[in-house]
Amino acid sequence: MQETLVVVGAAVLRNGRVLAAQRARPEALRGLWEFPGGKTDPGEIPEAALVRECREELGAHVRPLERVGPDVPLPVEGRRAVLRLWTAEIVEGDPRPLEHLALRWLSAGELRTVDWLSADLPFLEAVGAHLTHR
Ligand code: CDP
Repeated sequence: MQETLVVVGAAVLRNGRVLAAQRARPEALRGLWEFPGGKTDPGEIPEAALVRECREELGAHVRPLERVGPDVPLPVEGRRAVLRLWTAEIVEGDPRPLEHLALRWLSAGELRTVDWLSADLPFLEAVGAHLTHR
């Protein structure tokens, strides 16, 4: 049986806020918000995928801090996959939306004001605990 694909996500924290990114593609997901990340490459350590994806998507160097929540099942291109999330901090650079429509830095009070991808929803409570209220 094919191995479960790990999709990584980064809850990038800065000044008590978390970075949310608005997807541009595919069309079905356009406009929805996510924690930036993506699929691990074959043989790639998930934490390394997180660093790579954030560099590609945000033009910034991040460092994963700690796992948040359990793996969330997610179908990807007909494969068995899970979304795995880490908190992360910026080591260098200022995140820019290189592949997204927009980026937002959300406080705890703003966390539920954007339309998240459904797989990201189970992480919001745990991420919110890392944020300032406003
Ligand atoms: O960038 P890459 O092509 O490696 O992956 P992606 O298209 O960003 O993500 C792969 C799948 O995981 C997509 O179906 C996304 O909807 C899903 N995903 C998600 O649900 N939540 C995230 N925070 C990141 C990806």
